[in-house]
Amino acid sequence: MKRIWVKETPQQTGKQVYLKGWIEAKRDHGGVVFLDLRDRSGFLQMVGGRELKPFGEGDVVAVEGQVKLREKRFFNAKLETGKIELAVSNIKLLAKSKPLPFATHGLGYDINEETRLKYRYLDLRRPRLRSNLYRRHQAQQLFRQALSKRGFWEVETPYLSKATPEGARDFLVPSRLQPGKFYALPQSPQQYKQLLMVAGIERYFQIVRCFRDEDLRADRQFEFTQVDIEMSFMDRDEVLDMAEAVITEAMEAMGKKIAQKPFPRFTYAEAMEKFGADKFDLRKDKKGQELAFAWVIDFPLFEKTATRQISPVHHPFTAPHPEDVQLLDKDPLRVRSWQYDLVCNGHEVAGGSIRITDPKIQTKIFSILGHSRKEIKEKFGHLLEAFQYGVPPHGGIAIGFDRLMAIINGEKTIREVIAFPMTAKGRTSVMAAPTSVPAAQLRELGLRTVKNRR
Ligand code: AMO
Repeated sequence: MKRIWVKETPQQTGKQVYLKGWIEAKRDHGGVVFLDLRDRSGFLQMVGGRELKPFGEGDVVAVEGQVKLREKRFFNAKLETGKIELAVSNIKLLAKSKPLPFATHGLGYDINEETRLKYRYLDLRRPRLRSNLYRRHQAQQLFRQALSKRGFWEVETPYLSKATPEGARDFLVPSRLQPGKFYALPQSPQQYKQLLMVAGIERYFQIVRCFRDEDLRADRQFEFTQVDIEMSFMDRDEVLDMAEAVITEAMEAMGKKIAQKPFPRFTYAEAMEKFGADKFDLRKDKKGQELAFAWVIDFPLFEKTATRQISPVHHPFTAPHPEDVQLLDKDPLRVRSWQYDLVCNGHEVAGGSIRITDPKIQTKIFSILGHSRKEIKEKFGHLLEAFQYGVPPHGGIAIGFDRLMAIINGEKTIREVIAFPMTAKGRTSVMAAPTSVPAAQLRELGLRTVKNRR
């Protein structure tokens, strides 16, 4: 017999079916035993006699039986399969389970998160997390469709590369072939997507992992996913319109209502005056399900950090506002940029800019940021060189995909929408990396660890 999914059983009432899955719960009433069967598609109550007694929570089974209508008084309106049950005629154990460390049917918010992440493969059995993963998959397909339809090509860029600054520390990977040298994992594909514009791709996107060593928070992970986009021959408003169309299409196809279309736009100065911050929540009902998007434009190009150094508000490839270029030497902190951020329900969900394409201005920005000529050549010479071979005007944006998924699924942290996130202390789910490595492996890489003096 061919196996079917639990969700298909209501259409099979009266018929014999074959199902496979896990025992979710057991109720033993002596002569009558109830087992709930769960597969990816849902739950189904199974009923039988003594032959069901040996089976317990977590066991994997294959069952045959007849789908029967329940007595009316036992209907469960909350379940898709609430009007039926399976009268088991044959059951086979495929794998036995130890007692589970926690229940996998509730919402799970009250369970210690370290424990949930240690057993993430069990935690993911939870319907809430299963639905978050499924909706993440759906949203990825919808973004891919919305972008492909508009002529964007998905191009993969390297993970083992050279530092691309986005304001965080880099994760380094030691080279075995060149001991003492390191690759850096990209904080974003920023420079590669700009090089793809020089290559004439014109419209690029990538659903891509980014790596940033920064303080972990509810909306930050060391590695996270962006829907990364870049386009040539478009001015700022055209880039914003394109991004807005793509996001609107994907989110509406996910069944979300967008509070205001087109998305309202605020300059950075207006946002600071009105909301006291560059991210804000425009929803009237803060608990509402609507998505209240807004653009923030005209950010300052530079800011002073705590250590009183000048640093870029976005990244060093962001173009200064053309009206303010003449201020670069005299008063850099007053220069506005061509950066834009997208906020949604109080969170920054995307950011981007029109890029610098004039190597002279790019060099000037690097030197304002305190890089010597030598450093500029070492760190960014490749980009400045590429820009000497006919660089089209270009700009783009990156959507913080995990953050957007947390918002649309009503989750407070992005850990709830990532299959295997890190703990708040930076340990990976299940495998508990980072770990020490054998001395031989370090030797091969030309590395030696020193005692941490902290
Ligand atoms: P930016 O650094 O603003 O831009 O990143 C884009 C979006 O990514 C999300 N984000 C994060 N999400 C989870 N964990 C993190 N640690 C994290 N850091 C950022 C945010 C943010 O808005 N290359 C540029 C884009 C461009 O200019 O086109 C960039 O990466 O939602």
